[in-house]
Amino acid sequence: MGAYAAAYERSISDPTRFWGLAARDIRWLVPPDRVLDDGAPPFYRWFTGGELNTCDNALDRHVDEGRGDQPALIYDSPVTGTVRTYTYRELTDLVARFAGALRAQGVDVGDRVVIYLPMIPEAVIAMLACARIGAVHSVVFGGFAARELAARIDHARPKAVVSASCGIEGARLVPYKPLLDEALELASHKVERCVIRQRPQLHADLVRPRDVEWDEAVARAEPADCVPVAATDPLYILYTSGTTGRPKGVVRDNGGHAVALRWSMENIYGVGPGDVFWAASDVGWVVGHSYIVYGPLLTGCTTVLYEGKPVGTPDAGAFWRVASQHRVKVLFAAPTAIRAVKKEDPNGALLSSYDLSGLDALFLAGERLDPDTYQWAADRLGRPVIDHWWQTESGWPMAANPRGLEPLPVKPGSPSVPVPGYDVRVLTPDGAPAPPGVDGDIVVRLPLPPGALTTLWQDDERFVESYLTRHPGYYLTGDGGHIDEDGYLWVMGRTDDVVNVAGHRLSTGAMEEVIAAHPAVAECAVIGVRDPLKGQVPRALVVLKSDADADGAVLRDQVVRMVREQIGPVAALKDVAVVRALPKTRSGKILRGAMRDIADGREAPVPATIEDPAVLDELRPVLRPRPAS
Ligand code: COA
Ligand code: AMP
Repeated sequence: MGAYAAAYERSISDPTRFWGLAARDIRWLVPPDRVLDDGAPPFYRWFTGGELNTCDNALDRHVDEGRGDQPALIYDSPVTGTVRTYTYRELTDLVARFAGALRAQGVDVGDRVVIYLPMIPEAVIAMLACARIGAVHSVVFGGFAARELAARIDHARPKAVVSASCGIEGARLVPYKPLLDEALELASHKVERCVIRQRPQLHADLVRPRDVEWDEAVARAEPADCVPVAATDPLYILYTSGTTGRPKGVVRDNGGHAVALRWSMENIYGVGPGDVFWAASDVGWVVGHSYIVYGPLLTGCTTVLYEGKPVGTPDAGAFWRVASQHRVKVLFAAPTAIRAVKKEDPNGALLSSYDLSGLDALFLAGERLDPDTYQWAADRLGRPVIDHWWQTESGWPMAANPRGLEPLPVKPGSPSVPVPGYDVRVLTPDGAPAPPGVDGDIVVRLPLPPGALTTLWQDDERFVESYLTRHPGYYLTGDGGHIDEDGYLWVMGRTDDVVNVAGHRLSTGAMEEVIAAHPAVAECAVIGVRDPLKGQVPRALVVLKSDADADGAVLRDQVVRMVREQIGPVAALKDVAVVRALPKTRSGKILRGAMRDIADGREAPVPATIEDPAVLDELRPVLRPRPAS
């Protein structure tokens, strides 16, 4: 049996022993009594009785063990012309000071702190500072609009918000503070304190006494030590898009998270202490949480925080420049980013100007990796390109080619095999195991391994209903696909109303809610359609009220603007079609799945419950995949 097969078998047959051994890589303040607490299914807890501090494991511990002078964080920002390195000692001091500042603002163990920051070191510092004092952070991606930020503030009910005067999106300055002020106006929860990082590019107006400047807060603060927390205490809440407009607050614990991420760095990514790891994502997404911040730092790696884009900052050689300049060993990006690079530099001419001898592998995730993009990257880089599959809920890969354990043959289009800990299965709609090669719901048999979500924030019921009810005893991933004869997983796409735009997960339901509020709109549906650059883009189909006197072009502009202003630019809705009717079942349910099939070019049978097949036929030309622009 190979190293992967052996590890996988052990992880499934004896998870307690497997994860108990992995937990030895974490510095516990009180060792756990139990590895897996399975006393109250479908809820499972890892490392009960244990106490630790995640920030201690990410920072102080490495200083104590002699890594104080090693770079912990490299901030590389082509948009401001800055490259700055922080050693483990420096980062520990900065985090301890900011933790003290948060505490002085009234933040205590268990309090929530919303972080709405661009890709600047303060984002990492604020996250770790929360972990240090046992506060629960909830980072909100900067591309979301005020209304989305307000919804998260109302749900998480934070004691404080940490934000900045602006973000920089390529050549565009994005003022964050007016968005925050608007969100605080919209929210019914009253936030007592906002800590604002004033960036030199833009000065924000402060609302005193609520707002305090970062520098001011830190100057007055006493450094705070790490607080012991229970392994099962929440480390963070990260909101992700569900099928409705109401985002889901995924809760991550401290103990399981630390153990799983530490294990994943060596066994999946093949990196260890001292290596340079770069996840070209954003701290607002799960990839940023797990592999810009926690995974690399828990492992004693050097992590790169990149404030820039794959193209345009300044060109399509940006990734190769950063990888070469900082001797990156593993680069992690989204397929969209590689497609953007490929579009601008199809022959990879810019690649040849950089020394990439330190680069071992490119990992890609966040959306399906199409075989063309895989082949382009593999040919140009001449090193392993690894597709891996996971989601906000899992927090770390569920399927991958486990390079650290044992590199397996690559099958382009498949993220390879289930990762140890994840008992991945494919079930038919009636719950039977799907034979090899047959598509069905991709599920994971319970218990989920350490590091995966433990529940939804203050909503155990929604957790059970969303993930654990459809197939009792299994976690529903929301993805469909199959497992082939060799045990490789093929993820074909979401089975629900979630779209993946440029590696960003968005809810079509949320967009529909916004569009439905337009006075001329009778009803609407938003579906994801294939896009050659972004993987998927949203397309809105709008039916007007019979008495609406709306000009199609004006309505389209209004709808696009409403979605941008209420959800955020990241929703990237540009495509709005006014149609006569939407296909429905006889009971009035809109047939989104049937429209998705047509939009994706799938020849699926028309549902038997359809009220009027002519409506769907009429929509075919609107829905069909568009040729590459
Ligand atoms: N703050 C404010 N606005 C943001 C933002 C942020 N953090 N991130 C994105 N936006 C805005 C963009 O400026 C853009 O606005 P525009 O419509 O005015 O141009 C819009 O949201 C859409 O952004 P994006 O999806 O990034 O598209 P793009 O056309 O600007 O760039 C790519 C295309 C391919 C370069 C870009 O999508 C990309 O880098 N993708 C990789 C994504 C990724 O790493 N995902 C992480 C998951 S692993
Ligand atoms: P998010 O929660 O934002 O990370 O989005 C997770 C979703 O992205 C998954 O449920 C999948 O639909 C999709 N996804 C992520 N990685 C992959 C991959 N390697 N292949 C196919 N789909 C992926």
